[in-house]
Amino acid sequence: MKFLVVLCLTIVCSYAEPLRIRGGQEVDIGDYFHVCKRNKEFNTCLQETLQEALPKWAKGIPELGITQLDPFIEPEITINFKQNQFQGHATMRNVRMYGFSNVLIKNVESELTDDKLAIDVDCFFPRLETEGNFKGQGSFNAIVLNTKGYYNMSMSEVSAIWKIRGEKEVINGEEFMKIKSFTMRPKVEKMKIYVSDLFPGNPELNQATNMFLNENWQRIYNELLPYAEKYWSTAMAKIANEVFLKVPYDDLIPLN
Ligand SMILES: *[C@@H]1O[C@H](CO)[C@@H](O)[C@H](O)[C@H]1NC(C)=O
Repeated sequence: MKFLVVLCLTIVCSYAEPLRIRGGQEVDIGDYFHVCKRNKEFNTCLQETLQEALPKWAKGIPELGITQLDPFIEPEITINFKQNQFQGHATMRNVRMYGFSNVLIKNVESELTDDKLAIDVDCFFPRLETEGNFKGQGSFNAIVLNTKGYYNMSMSEVSAIWKIRGEKEVINGEEFMKIKSFTMRPKVEKMKIYVSDLFPGNPELNQATNMFLNENWQRIYNELLPYAEKYWSTAMAKIANEVFLKVPYDDLIPLN
């Protein structure tokens, strides 16, 4: 299977010419990815290209200004939430997320026109982990919390469909496909949460809360999902646009 993918990449789907970026400059994209043409092979080509390329993007693509993706580091994330019995605000600092490069690209569907792009990527991550420091204030039913500490979380068997939507944008006379939205609603099979020092000086309550979080993760995850989605969507569109607003559309996805 792997051999076939490599064969396909080198022979049919790809070409290794330098990529023209904004302003006519050329960059050598080397192994980073292979250009897929706008034809009926596009979906298969993109699926194989992403499968091959994402692990290589783990350390970033300096030529295109893409930062490290695995671990993905976010200095600060702030969320305000209010949903059913659960409300408050939290700031997470020095957030590190691991595991994005170990992805299985299951399927790609797309609709590409001259001025609109719609790509759905069906993907699967065996395991994602995240850790960081938090500071928060919140309440869940009668439990009121004002706290800070360290947390980590592991998620197993994460399935998601990336829904990527773009529209043509002309910048200095060149045509780009700006990514307008990049959404997903991951389904998680298993989650483990660890939070330290939720209640300073009260290890019993800390332990009870950790147990509560781990027993109720599914419900908590569902309630927090809309907020997480908003964050992901912005972060992913920004990363995608590092490519889409740098490489003109006709060079990134050339007509056959
Ligand atoms: C989370 O942190 C705890 C305590 O340091 C550690 O025992 C556990 O292995 C960590 N879990 C993950 C998924 O990093």
